[in-house]
Amino acid sequence: MTNAPHPDKDGADTPAPFLFDPIELPRDYAICMENRRDSHIVSFGDDRGFNDEMANYKERMQERVQALPQGNCHLWANGEIVGQLEMKLPVDPDVAYVSLFYLVSSFRNRGFGRFLQNHAIKVARSLGRKRIHLSVSPTNPQAVAFYRKQGWVNEGPRPGREQMHLMSLTLADSI
Ligand SMILES: CC(C)(COP(=O)(O)OP(=O)(O)OC[C@H]1O[C@@H](n2cnc3c(N)ncnc32)[C@H](O)[C@@H]1OP(=O)(O)O)[C@@H](O)C(=O)NCCC(=O)NCCS
Repeated sequence: MTNAPHPDKDGADTPAPFLFDPIELPRDYAICMENRRDSHIVSFGDDRGFNDEMANYKERMQERVQALPQGNCHLWANGEIVGQLEMKLPVDPDVAYVSLFYLVSSFRNRGFGRFLQNHAIKVARSLGRKRIHLSVSPTNPQAVAFYRKQGWVNEGPRPGREQMHLMSLTLADSI
């Protein structure tokens, strides 16, 4: 792949060959969508409902990338995009929200998800946030196992979207 970010650009706490690089739109839009679609299929078993979920995604991503470039990144390894992190800042000043943790399939189940999580923690802490929230589908056992292992607390069905569970990580209790 061309246009790979330079290894020194970011990733001081991320071991080589991994490094984070902010998502740039419109350049990265197609890969963002592809990764989102794959994540939806992993979470729910197929891509039904994906188009509805993605309504206004371009606009939402533009806002997120502009507001929080360091939290909306691709994870690169050896010149390839191998992961995606999407974050936003809710109104609650104590909370940062992770909209997506994503690794391509060949990089899953090898412990690399913690690099995405550590980066999200670093971003949240730099903004003085005390907790991170995310939503997970109980039909995604690998993600559920990952969050349990990393100390996330299941806060139960997410109000307004009960098929998802709200998870929270208190930063004082984490790395
Ligand atoms: C969720 C994700 C970021 C986790 O990162 P990861 O590097 O794969 O996670 P880890 O390897 O640290 O841990 C995965 C755990 O799931 C377990 N696991 C894998 N498949 C499983 C299954 N079918 N059922 C139960 N547990 C499973 C593994 O055994 C491992 O636990 P262990 O370390 O105690 O053995 C990554 O798997 C991913 O990107 N998945 C696809 C996108 C996605 O679902 N994102 C989350 C949306 S909320």
